[in-house]
Amino acid sequence: MQIDVLTIFPDYLAPLELSLPGRARAKGLLELHVHDLRQWTTDKHHTTDDTPYGGGAGMVMKPEPWGAAFDALDIDGATVVFTTPSGAPFTQAMAAELAGHERLVFACGRYEGIDQRVIDHARTRADVREISIGDYVLNGGEVAALAITEAVVRLIPGFMGNPESLAEESHEDGLLEYPVFTKPASWRDLDVPPVLLSGDHGKIAAWRHEQAVRRTAERRPDLLHASHRIDAGDLADLEVRPATRADAGEILTLQKACWVQEAQANAALDIPPLREGLDDVVASLDRWTTHVVRAEGRLIASGRGRLDGSAWDVGRLMVAPDLQGRGLGRWLLSYVEGLAPEGATSYALFTGAGSAENLRMYKKAGYRLRGELDGHPGVVVLTKRRPEQVRIF
Ligand code: ADE
Repeated sequence: MQIDVLTIFPDYLAPLELSLPGRARAKGLLELHVHDLRQWTTDKHHTTDDTPYGGGAGMVMKPEPWGAAFDALDIDGATVVFTTPSGAPFTQAMAAELAGHERLVFACGRYEGIDQRVIDHARTRADVREISIGDYVLNGGEVAALAITEAVVRLIPGFMGNPESLAEESHEDGLLEYPVFTKPASWRDLDVPPVLLSGDHGKIAAWRHEQAVRRTAERRPDLLHASHRIDAGDLADLEVRPATRADAGEILTLQKACWVQEAQANAALDIPPLREGLDDVVASLDRWTTHVVRAEGRLIASGRGRLDGSAWDVGRLMVAPDLQGRGLGRWLLSYVEGLAPEGATSYALFTGAGSAENLRMYKKAGYRLRGELDGHPGVVVLTKRRPEQVRIF
């Protein structure tokens, strides 16, 4: 890969000589050049900015030095990355995609930005990306170019001696990383979780998965359901977390409310979720991975899953009746699917044959009807294959 960086502060990019990019250069995988944009100015003060047309505060970077730089660097066919706070958010998936490109040219803006015609012109000659490294404003795009370069270069094929380390370090299945520990087993009265010392690899994997889900639910629920975000303003501040004994009473209440609808839809009153009492719900928490959703303290939804062979059984998906029809159920389904451990290769669930709304939603989510549940007339089974697991972190 060849990387060119265009900046008015070339010294800012000195760290590229160090660390990972430095190693990639030493290995011959990366050719990197940092260029001072001022060499393409024509006045004696090497001016790169001017006042904005239309007025306003700050200065705008002039187009001419950029044009001359693009000509000199021959950007045609390259991928030109403008680092800007108004760009698309940089992600690991974007880093992986950029790592497959032959040539990246970073254009680091300063001041209030670059004359728009520079970007429009570059688009006629190159694959242009406008990328932000976060929702904050830096003084210029240099730090962003550094961050993007480091994230991209370590993914260049052949860079990591052991490519497995990329996968191993990665966040499991799009989740945040679980907590890690090393020796000593006890330090300042803090002990390593005993399961990690047990030698039981199955238990260790399950513990790590649970921790990763818990962390992600607490810190980055958007990662769990990025494509199914609930945007209704009053549902914006959802708390999603594993259920505890303290939630059982409200789960029972929600369950009764939700399955009255099911009873009506299927003309059947004798169904377990309606029969169950508090003790049943409490006992189920040990056997199922159950999560609850709270909005401003109120328990508004819940769902659970457990492994049955290689199928992740999804069950008790419920959304408070007054909040149905807003996409919460669809989101909850994908959330509970996301709790499936690595060994799961399919999802399975069942519902009443008369539950038209449920069936419609499950089919839309990719489930196929598999017929009646053995020994339970009027109850149908649906399954879906688990998609290939893509590690995005
Ligand atoms: N330039 C200034 N702020 C930036 C940001 N957040 N991301 C990318 N480039 C920037």
